[in-house]
Amino acid sequence: MKYDFDKIIDRTNTACVKYDLRQTIFGKSDVIPMWVADMDFETPDFIRDAVIRRAGHPIYGYTFRDEDYYQPIIEWMQSHHGWTIQKEDVVFCPGVVPALNMAVLAFTKPSDKIIIQPPVYRPFYGAVRDHERELVYNQLIQKENKYLIDFELLEELAKDAVMMILCNPHNPVGRCWDQSELDSIAKICIKNHVLVLSDEIHADLVMPGNKHEVFANLSPEAAEIAITAHAPSKTFNLAGLATSSVIILNPDLRKVFSEFIDKMHLSMGNLFGNIASTSAYLHGEPWRSQLIDYLQTNIDFTTTFINENIPHLKMIRPEATYMIWLDFRDYRIDDETLKHKLIHEAGLGFNPGTEFGPGGKGFMRMNIACPRSTLKEALERLHAMCESL
Ligand SMILES: Cc1ncc(COP(=O)(O)O)c(C=O)c1O
Repeated sequence: MKYDFDKIIDRTNTACVKYDLRQTIFGKSDVIPMWVADMDFETPDFIRDAVIRRAGHPIYGYTFRDEDYYQPIIEWMQSHHGWTIQKEDVVFCPGVVPALNMAVLAFTKPSDKIIIQPPVYRPFYGAVRDHERELVYNQLIQKENKYLIDFELLEELAKDAVMMILCNPHNPVGRCWDQSELDSIAKICIKNHVLVLSDEIHADLVMPGNKHEVFANLSPEAAEIAITAHAPSKTFNLAGLATSSVIILNPDLRKVFSEFIDKMHLSMGNLFGNIASTSAYLHGEPWRSQLIDYLQTNIDFTTTFINENIPHLKMIRPEATYMIWLDFRDYRIDDETLKHKLIHEAGLGFNPGTEFGPGGKGFMRMNIACPRSTLKEALERLHAMCESL
């Protein structure tokens, strides 16, 4: 079956963060929303059908997850990532951001140092600061349009850190960390007894020519220090169903985390999220591979458009994720003015780079998971705005 990613779907008035909060976020209700990380494509039909089937039963009482829930996750990890896991390794959590916060609370104590690699997804900051832990920055290095890890600094910081939160692949700079980079992180963290909380929510959104490596699957020693957060939500566009897995192979760490989740009474999850997850992992590969083709073409389209029309704007081509990191620094314009012009002159709702912390000044993040006609309109508006700078 060929899926139609060109279809325009009206998402307004569906309690949809991306569209219905535009006035609140941008002060303008009609910007083309290219910010929060969900997609303007239909959640696939086989997932909707499974949810609708269950919704047809008149009672939505307490639920639980059985073999049918775990087996597709186990098989997906094996077939897509070459990672062998067991049912016991998988702990449910209602979302990856909640999982990051829970893991920080479960494995660290106030004042402990936690390393993150900015510019990075904003909730990484909150997961540390909101719980009185200390943020430590191993800022990424930008080299010829590619972001790299500062291993020398990491080696220093790891000496007195307790945890590192790894974004693998990395939002917003789109890096799909390769095996040797991850091996170097593992080596440093193992030596210094630093736990690695690896957020792998974008693992199934890797562009052709790149390969996702599960941090915990690098070696038995890496598995000992790893807590992996994974979810079907980005890939299959079901973030509203708040369903994710925290996969921990080390039984001692897993015990601590699952007891924490149980004490918070978070382990039930929601009925429809469980069903959607099962359906996604069971039937999702043909849809996912067509999605990747479409996203890759959107990335190519954006690259060509910018190169041909907006030469002063630089774009960081993502190896993974549907986010494009745009570098406006050649325009020498301050961030507030840039943001204002994008919203009020171009009618575009991007995420300011400053939201992602150090290294974000002069950048914007653009979500290209939309029909090509929408992307084309957005790029034409961007072009017109940049001409006026
Ligand atoms: C790196 C990363 N982690 C987590 C999330 C969100 O996870 P959840 O919706 O499951 O809390 C996002 C969404 O953009 C993300 O980019």
